[in-house]
Amino acid sequence: MASLDSEFRDNEILLTGANGFLGKVILALLLDRFPDVRRVHVLVRPRPGLPSEERFATEVLDSPPLGPLVEKLGRETVEGRVNVLSGDASRPRAGLGPDQVRDLAGRVGLVLNCAGLVEFFPPVDLSLRANVDSVERLLELCDELDAKLLHVSTCYVAGKADGLVEETEPILGFHPRRTGPGDDRFRADIELADIRAAADALAQGIEGAQRAEALTELGRVRAARWGWVNTYTFTKSLGEQVLAAQDSVPYAIVRPAIVESSLRYPFPGWIEGGRTAAPLALMALGGLLDWPARRDISLEIVPVDLVAAATLAVAGELLAGRARQVYHLAGSDVNPYPLEDLIRLLCAEARANGNRVTHPPFWLDPFPRLRFLDSSGAERRRRAQRRRIAVARRIMERLGRSARAARLRVLELQLGFHEETFRQYMPFILDNRYVFETVNIRATYAGLSPRDRQALPWDPESIDWPVYWRSCQIPGIRKWIQPEAVREWTFQL
Ligand SMILES: NC(=O)c1ccc[n+]([C@@H]2O[C@H](COP(=O)([O-])OP(=O)(O)OC[C@H]3O[C@@H](n4cnc5c(N)ncnc54)[C@H](OP(=O)(O)O)[C@@H]3O)[C@@H](O)[C@H]2O)c1
Repeated sequence: MASLDSEFRDNEILLTGANGFLGKVILALLLDRFPDVRRVHVLVRPRPGLPSEERFATEVLDSPPLGPLVEKLGRETVEGRVNVLSGDASRPRAGLGPDQVRDLAGRVGLVLNCAGLVEFFPPVDLSLRANVDSVERLLELCDELDAKLLHVSTCYVAGKADGLVEETEPILGFHPRRTGPGDDRFRADIELADIRAAADALAQGIEGAQRAEALTELGRVRAARWGWVNTYTFTKSLGEQVLAAQDSVPYAIVRPAIVESSLRYPFPGWIEGGRTAAPLALMALGGLLDWPARRDISLEIVPVDLVAAATLAVAGELLAGRARQVYHLAGSDVNPYPLEDLIRLLCAEARANGNRVTHPPFWLDPFPRLRFLDSSGAERRRRAQRRRIAVARRIMERLGRSARAARLRVLELQLGFHEETFRQYMPFILDNRYVFETVNIRATYAGLSPRDRQALPWDPESIDWPVYWRSCQIPGIRKWIQPEAVREWTFQL
């Protein structure tokens, strides 16, 4: 295989989602490790009153993960190697003008699509726009540019599953309830036309919150009907199926599992946003003891810098014309970390921090200890806790102890918040057990030169998980995910 250096020197790259969590690390790593990269074009959506160039400057160049790169190369050099394109991946030609497309044609060899909407249950029209329309429009753009498409999807397109998820599972016609190759019940084109029509019809005549609620429900019901655990993974699978249904644009799909704080680059512990495992970690760090979770499940967490590195390695392979179709970027097939061990570690951290939550009031939990519950056990405990809090609150109100009653009301709200969080995460900690096969990315790395392997490390097998959680993930969550969130998740009276 040609060296990655020469692939990235001979081909310009158009990156979408560069202002997102993963996209920023991909951009920084590419510029940091490959000094000969000619030019990276980043597609950034303008916001009202905020042009794309300004968004890029403030949200990317000035952001912590770009700090080390800007310091190393100098701001001017970085700016000189990046061309900001104002556009929107879900619009025709990604919102670019015909002159811009002509200018990029023949230079851009790869479009790296890192744009997406990662919210689990958004209104379905928004999820489709970000995760499906964008793929359709970028394919058209690639056709015009004569470029290849590397698409970032997710391991969880697998939907409901128990056990090994293989990279060779055929994409077209996939749905999580598929019984075998002869099961042709799911057709992505038909499903897409149908759900788009249903969304349009539903949105007629209703506005605002009511409209958003109806469209959210539509996504939830459709995803569940076919066996996907949320609207996000359903639309991501539809996006993959759009890719797999065509053969004019060469493509590859990388499927990261749960992307979390960095192991090494740009510095240990970089994390952004509280959408992935952070809410669970925050609840555990807040001292939550009742877990609707399976002890033996391994949360499929991958540090963001490993995902960025592996994505760039696959980009090189795709440019060289040797890519496989799908790459799982996960690690528990080679280095699992059972949820029980993780939650015990987080509880120990909570105790070490002197968090009083580990000592809930006697009347609420007479025998506090860590419990792993099934869904009906969790439901029973929640109902009992709610009843006790409601009784205590009524007593306090009758006694005129309004401050105490108000604190109990807050506790009720927090319980509701925990329930909602668990509802979203149950598929990943209780209902399903995923082990994602990662044969293809290991084969990619086996073919890299020692220099490229060093430039783009992918080594999930050697992560010491307790060390990673103590020195990257927990400090990262505490530092970069707002301290208010920690308070919100804290189960205190
Ligand atoms: N985070 C994870 O744990 C995880 C796991 C597996 C796979 N992934 C995949 O990795 C990718 C990146 O995720 P992330 O965590 O970095 O998400 P993120 O931080 O929310 O970033 C998403 C990016 O996509 C951009 N975007 C969305 N729609 C766009 C459009 N129509 N045109 C142009 N840009 C658009 C957003 O731009 P704006 O700022 O303008 O909204 C944002 O920069 C996604 O495809 C996701 O499915 C993520």
